Amino acid sequence: MKNKYKSYWRKSGLKGKWGEIYLNHLDQFKPKNFLEIGVFCGVTARNTCEYLNEIHGNTFSYIGIDLFGGKKEAVSDEIEPTFLQKQNFSNPLKKIYYNYIVKENLNSLESNQKFLKKFKNNIKLIAGDTNVVLKSIDLNHIDYVFLDGGHSYQTVINDLEILLRNLKGKNKVVLCDDYGKASFIKEVKNAIDDFSEKNNIQIRIISNRFAELIF
Ligand SMILES: C[S@@+](CC[C@H](N)C(=O)[O-])C[C@H]1O[C@@H](n2cnc3c(N)ncnc32)[C@H](O)[C@@H]1O
Repeated sequence: MKNKYKSYWRKSGLKGKWGEIYLNHLDQFKPKNFLEIGVFCGVTARNTCEYLNEIHGNTFSYIGIDLFGGKKEAVSDEIEPTFLQKQNFSNPLKKIYYNYIVKENLNSLESNQKFLKKFKNNIKLIAGDTNVVLKSIDLNHIDYVFLDGGHSYQTVINDLEILLRNLKGKNKVVLCDDYGKASFIKEVKNAIDDFSEKNNIQIRIISNRFAELIF
């Protein structure tokens, strides 16, 4: 694998070594049809598309779902990245550039479409709350899911139940963020534990952070 996880001077959920660990995990499975729940500023999406393009040429597909600044529909206890509230960068140059010069909201649908333009024929970005939109998306062809959207207990359970209904018995991979100690979110871990116990699915913890589930 030639690709290194790049940040593209944006903001990513996977900083430093986590991007490399994520790309190495992708490389173990070499998926062709990919779903990311929680696109944020598109950095993992872009790295994923660069990787899929490298191994499959232009025959891969990527679907990304995010609120993209829209309203959450069903759940009131959602945990949002604080960055999304005021687009507060720790790097003052980024703050000046994005907030005052180009005035671009990096989590908007428009910004993500522009950033991922190179792969416009292979990608589909869907704006909406997964509690509402996920059940109406055709997921049958998906090989690999990166689950990193809403982090409330109910949203994680809902997302996993819908994914299971569509992917069960097909040996498909769901990589969930924020399960292990390295980026622990209690609601996420509790939801994955309860879901896995109920459906008799094994959890493999990757690098003390991600939970890998095989459906
Ligand atoms: C932690 S960020 C995702 C980070 C991204 N995967 C990355 O690697 O850079 C979580 C994203 O999930 C989105 N989100 C939160 N609740 C959601 C929901 N119920 N439905 C869809 N997207 C949601 C937020 O807007 C946010 O952009």
